Amino acid sequence: MSYRVLVAFLLFVVSASVNAKTFIIADAMVDVERGRLLSKPIVTVEDGRIIDIQSGDARQLIGDVVDLRGLTLLPGMIDMHAHLTSSSTEHGYKRLASSQTRAALRGVKHAQLTLMAGVTTVRNLGASGFIDVALRDSINAGDIVGPRMFVSGPSLGITGGHCDNNLLPVDYQVSSDGVADGPWEVAKKVRRNIKYGADLIKLCATGGVLSKGTKVGVQQYSLEEMKMAVSEAHRRGVTVAAHAHGTEGVYAAIEAGVDSVEHASFIDDAGIKLAKNKGTYLSMDIYVTEFILGEGEKAGILEESLAKERKTGALQRENFSKAVNAGVNMVMGTDAGVYPHGDNLKQLSRMVQFGMSPIQALQAASINAATLLNKESDLGSIKVGAYADIIAVSGNPLDDISVLENVDFVMKGGEVIKFNRQVK
Ligand code: ARG
Repeated sequence: MSYRVLVAFLLFVVSASVNAKTFIIADAMVDVERGRLLSKPIVTVEDGRIIDIQSGDARQLIGDVVDLRGLTLLPGMIDMHAHLTSSSTEHGYKRLASSQTRAALRGVKHAQLTLMAGVTTVRNLGASGFIDVALRDSINAGDIVGPRMFVSGPSLGITGGHCDNNLLPVDYQVSSDGVADGPWEVAKKVRRNIKYGADLIKLCATGGVLSKGTKVGVQQYSLEEMKMAVSEAHRRGVTVAAHAHGTEGVYAAIEAGVDSVEHASFIDDAGIKLAKNKGTYLSMDIYVTEFILGEGEKAGILEESLAKERKTGALQRENFSKAVNAGVNMVMGTDAGVYPHGDNLKQLSRMVQFGMSPIQALQAASINAATLLNKESDLGSIKVGAYADIIAVSGNPLDDISVLENVDFVMKGGEVIKFNRQVK
């Protein structure tokens, strides 16, 4: 063998072992882009990405075969509003007993639970001490197991607002990391968050349900402050997510140019129209009300918050239906962390119950989310070129969306994370 032939041969052997192909075969695949089922898919994965999709009987396949016959493939789900550092068992004053370090360690467990449930990407909206940045970086480095994370760092908000900590009297001098009053303080916090690793900005436009002493329907940031946040963020190439329940605050946030409105509970027709015209996404957490009213009290949720929730949840669901009917851009955002991590996909059946078709709900948790993240070529659908973030369920999710509550198989970036083999 000549030297050149030998080198070529060795290169071939090395590349064949590094770039080993994996074939995934299944009964069906949800094509979220076209909104239909493909039967008998054969998905080829190499180097963590999807390189080919065929359909038909499994031929002679050379390489590893992941046999998911009996199951339906879907793209890994994306939750656009999660709090991996928060625990559903610690609300209100109970939360004060946990340090940031404790929250970080618990975040490790929450990340794993989330991924195991079939959520391969999350947008984490608000964490003090940049714990979210550390969690994201640890996952990306392969130190711990979790979903892909896009993180905001500390949420921006007014003094005494929903994103401040209002539990203690003045003696303790406690205020949250992201508190910023006036346009220039807001601009400075945007810059600081970006400096320490945030992928996007979260701000609190109105009061909230779970914060002490805030009125859920009342606007907090002024239009001027929100415009500053948006122009500063957009100039730096990052998006803005606005927590907003109240009608005026939702409208002002959209007017200011935020990319998504979280909760949007009391959005009215004018807000829906403006969101539709501007292409603003709504991320409406319509499952969490069941947890808050059902189990919130023993988790430490304050009575005043329970009272606010009683006035919020049902109206939010009604307004969700209106927004869906009007054709506003929608993503799935759950607020997991308020309720147990891993239960994220329970929201999908509520999205169907309140007006979406099953495919619309799946699109909200996949391609729509990927588009809002600006990652539509990498994430959100099983297509050539995208990361091999693939999950599988038994049954047809287009007939019964609740099958997503029991995910049997999870692959992230070509790596099998979970495989419940009993199902076949
Ligand atoms: N984090 C949100 C807040 O405190 C939770 C709202 C939950 N309720 C609802 N109906 N979506 O405002």
